[in-house]
Amino acid sequence: MRINQFRTLQGKFTLYLSVLIIGMMSALAYWNILREEMLMKEIIVRAGIALAESFAIPCTNTMLYEEIGLAEERGLLDHYISDLMNKKELQVIYAMVLDPGGKIVAHSSITETGKVYRDQITQEGLSSWKTILQYPSADILDISTPLSISTKRWGTLRIGISLENLNREISGLIWKYFFYTLGLIFIAIISVISLAGVVTKPLKLLSKEMDERRPGDDPPQNLRFREDEIGTLQKSFYRLLNRIKEDEKEKERTQRNLLLTEKMVAIGKLTSGVAHEINNPLGGILNGIYHFKKGGVGIEKQREYLDLMEDGIKRVQKSVTNLLEYARNPHLEWSPADYNSLVEKALSLLDYQIRKNRIEVKKGFSPNLPPVFVDANQMGQVLVNIFLNAIQAMEKGGILQVDTKIADHQLMITVSDSGEGIAEDILPKVFDPFFTTKGNEKGTGLGLWISQGIVERHGGTIRLTSEERRGTTVEIQLPLYSK
Ligand SMILES: Nc1ncnc2c1ncn2[C@@H]1O[C@H](COP(=O)(O)OP(=O)(O)OP(=O)(O)O)[C@@H](O)[C@H]1O
Ligand SMILES: [Mg+2]
Repeated sequence: MRINQFRTLQGKFTLYLSVLIIGMMSALAYWNILREEMLMKEIIVRAGIALAESFAIPCTNTMLYEEIGLAEERGLLDHYISDLMNKKELQVIYAMVLDPGGKIVAHSSITETGKVYRDQITQEGLSSWKTILQYPSADILDISTPLSISTKRWGTLRIGISLENLNREISGLIWKYFFYTLGLIFIAIISVISLAGVVTKPLKLLSKEMDERRPGDDPPQNLRFREDEIGTLQKSFYRLLNRIKEDEKEKERTQRNLLLTEKMVAIGKLTSGVAHEINNPLGGILNGIYHFKKGGVGIEKQREYLDLMEDGIKRVQKSVTNLLEYARNPHLEWSPADYNSLVEKALSLLDYQIRKNRIEVKKGFSPNLPPVFVDANQMGQVLVNIFLNAIQAMEKGGILQVDTKIADHQLMITVSDSGEGIAEDILPKVFDPFFTTKGNEKGTGLGLWISQGIVERHGGTIRLTSEERRGTTVEIQLPLYSK
């Protein structure tokens, strides 16, 4: 049997573990990238703040000296700015000193000096009394630090640091982690697949071994049981095989005994029936012979005795013929038959009796019965027996309902009559050989017994239910044999 790859133990194991590994590795890589990015940024920020704040002191002093006239205007500030621009450890892209009104007092780009800046970043810088960080774009870090002593403010120093290198390094890092993670995931999945194989391979082998064994088989001579859970399973499997074998033997024994008992019962019933059936007429015949021997019987009486003796001999003959009929045909001649036509044929054989008793026949035939394999002659005999019983139970007319249908892969034939029915106490005896309520002239009591034998030899069952004065229903179930 082939199983979808993803439904095998190996498939499931691989799939679940792979998803887990991919998830965990990706999360780990993501977390590492974030952490490294943060660390690298922090280094730049710290260095930037230190740079800005260290230059803020001389700039403040210069502005203070300028204010009190100790230093000449601008020269020193420009000097500091160009000093700042020359710091190689950081990529400074601009530096400027602004007065409290936003006017550029000194700038790394000389053309900017004298302009007044009113943008948001400048406003934030001018109004803050602490060093603040701002990001005008993803590639630039802007640091503003106040030029003040206590509450006296002369202006603001702003420097811009390029983050281009940092961003380039981070994207390099991302690719590096991507390929590392991919490689690790690949290795992990290959390991998982081979690991899953280690577990499932012995299971597959065991399953193959199980398929090849039959109940009662001993383990092959050269088989070495594994020393793990699979080995335990192997041993349990062989124990199970032995148990099944034992159970089968036990079942066979019980069935044989049961069959024997049933046979004994059947033979007992049959012999007592035969004895009764043959002894009774024989008694009559012997009685006739006794009278003849004795002599002195008038011619009229002689005729009467002869008629009685003939009747008795005929009854013995009929019983024996019926018995032979049953005994002679233990083998079935199977052929495909349309069951509805079999029923029709049996009914037409009994047409005369049906009309004589003014019986209405109602048919509920299933239109799509498949052809069934039966011995058509013997099945016909069964149907005639059952119809005849129904007709004989409806001497004053009635309804004979005959249905055929398929249910649970079985063919069901139901025959119901609205006749006299059967009393509850004799219902269990109607299938017994020679049981009849019709008197010796009309019935032998073999009809249902013979019918049951035939149906059972077809692998089917026959059931009879009845209610006194209401009617009787006979149900035959036959398996649908195919060629
Ligand atoms: N449809 C029925 N309605 C009423 N009683 C029935 C019906 N079918 C069977 N019986 C009862 O079951 C008995 C046994 O039936 P079975 O067919 O075996 O023998 P029989 O009809 O008496 O004799 P034979 O079939 O040999 O002519 C019948 O005598 C009758 O009492
Ligand atoms: Mg009968």
